[in-house]
Amino acid sequence: MKNTYFILTSIAIMLFFGIDKHINAQTSANETLKFPKGFLWGSASAAYQVEGGTKADGRGPNTWDKYLNPPYSLAKMATGQDVNGDVSINQYDRGQFLKDVKLMKELGINTYRLSISWSRILPEGTGKVNEPGIDYYNFVINALLKEGIQPLVTLYHFDLPLALANKGGWMNRESVKWFTDYANLCFDRFGDRVKIFLTFNEPSIEMYFLQSVFDAIDNRQMPQIPASEKYISEHFAHIHHLMLAHANAVNAYHHRKLGGKIGITYNFMLCDLDSVPTENGKKSLELVKKAWNNLFMDPVFKGEYPKELFDRLKAAQYGDIQPGDMDLIKSAKTDFLGINYYGVNMYHEQPTAGFFGLTTGKNPDKPEMFNGFVDPDAFVKGLISLKEQYNSPEIYITENGAGYGEQDEKLENGKVNDALRTRYIQRHIKAVNQAIQKGVNIKGYCVWSMFDNLEWIMGYSRRFGITYVDFKTQERIPKQSYYWYQSFLKEQQK
Ligand code: BGC
Repeated sequence: MKNTYFILTSIAIMLFFGIDKHINAQTSANETLKFPKGFLWGSASAAYQVEGGTKADGRGPNTWDKYLNPPYSLAKMATGQDVNGDVSINQYDRGQFLKDVKLMKELGINTYRLSISWSRILPEGTGKVNEPGIDYYNFVINALLKEGIQPLVTLYHFDLPLALANKGGWMNRESVKWFTDYANLCFDRFGDRVKIFLTFNEPSIEMYFLQSVFDAIDNRQMPQIPASEKYISEHFAHIHHLMLAHANAVNAYHHRKLGGKIGITYNFMLCDLDSVPTENGKKSLELVKKAWNNLFMDPVFKGEYPKELFDRLKAAQYGDIQPGDMDLIKSAKTDFLGINYYGVNMYHEQPTAGFFGLTTGKNPDKPEMFNGFVDPDAFVKGLISLKEQYNSPEIYITENGAGYGEQDEKLENGKVNDALRTRYIQRHIKAVNQAIQKGVNIKGYCVWSMFDNLEWIMGYSRRFGITYVDFKTQERIPKQSYYWYQSFLKEQQK
C-alpha cells in the first residue's frame, strides 16, 4: 500500500511536469535586436537550489530540509534519486561563489537574481537574527556589485522556515506578520545596496503544487496535481495571507524611501487544450487560467480578487477576508510585475476532474522540455494581454529557460552542446523584443538558470543551466547556450 502510494505520487508528479513540446521551429541566426537603453540582462537562481550549507553557521531548517530528507525523501519518490540540498552547487562556499561571479562577469550580464534563505537569517523564522547568515548575503551582494552586477533579490522563493511551517505556515494569519518582519529585516540590512526586490516567487506554484503535495504527504493522501478546486477553496487563506504580506512589505519598503523598486513575480501560466474544445471545455480553460494567474495578479495590480472565480471557489465563505484587508491590499503600489515563463500548459477535458473539469493534457513532442510546451509566440501574446489587463505595468522577465534530462544534453569531450536550450533562449529573447515593439514595458530579462542546480522535487535530474555543473566535483563548464548568450550580450553593448 505504502509502495503504491509512492509510485502513484511519483507518477502524478511526472505527469504534471511531463507536459512538453518539441522545439522544432528554426530560429533565425544572430540577428541584432534592439532593446531599450538601461535594459537589465541577467540570470536567475534561488537560495535552496544553489547554496548548500544547510546546516552551516546557525541556519535553521526549512520545509525542503524536511521533505527532501527521510522519512519523506520526496526527490527519491519522484525520480529515484535520493538527494537533498545539503550541498547543491555549493554557493554557500564563498570561494565557490567568487568563481561563479567570475563566470557571470565573463558572460556579460549586469544583473543576477538570487533569493535570501529566510531560515539562514532568522533560523526560527521570527525573533533572533543569525548574524553569520546576514554576513553571507552581504558578502554575496558586495561580490556582485564589485563586478558591476546588480543583485535582484527575491525575499521568498518556496523555502518557508520549518519552525513557521510547524505553526501552520501560510494558513496561519500570523504569517502576514512573520513575513512583514522578515522583509523589514532584509530592507534594513540589504536595502542600501539592493535596488530591486521581489517579495514572492510564483505564489500559485507554491500553493497549488508544492504546498498541496506537502499537505498530501503529511496526510498520507494522494496529491492532486495540480491542486483540486476543493483544495484551493479550502486553502484560500494561504493566498490571502500572501497578498496581505506582500502589501505590507511593499508599503514598508516605500516608507523607507531607499530609492529602489519592489515587485512580485508569477509563473505566467499560458494554458491550452489538447483537443477541439467543447463549450464547457472553453469555460473550464478560462477558469483554469484565472486560477493560475488572475487570482494572484488581480489583487496586487487591481486591488480585487477576480469575481467569477472567487464566487466559484466560494472563497468568501471561509471568512479569511477581514475588514480593512482589501484596503490594505489596494494601498500597496507595487512597482513592477515579474514574469517567469517557460511554456504553455496543456490540458485535457475531463468533466469529472477536480481542477475545474480539466486534467493534464497530452503533448506528443519529444524530447521533453521540462516546463511545458515551447511556444514563444504565445509568450508575445501573453505579454500583450498583461499590458492590456493591468494598465501597462513595468515588467521584468525574472525567469525564462529550458530544462532537459541528462539524456537530452550530454557532456561530451568536455563540452555540452545544448542546442535545444540555445535555440529556446534565442527565440524567447526575440519574443521579448517583439512584445517591446508592441508597447509592452519590459525592463529586463533573466535566464533560468546560470548553473544547473537542484530542481526541487525532481532533484538533480533536470538541468536548466547555461553552465553545466558536475554535481560530484562542483566543476563548472559553460554550455553552448552560455557562449551564445555571451555573444548576444556583446552585440547589445555596441
Ligand atoms: C521556479 C524555479 C524552478 C524553475 C524551473 C520556476 O518555477 O521559480 O525555482 O527551478 O521554474 O522549473
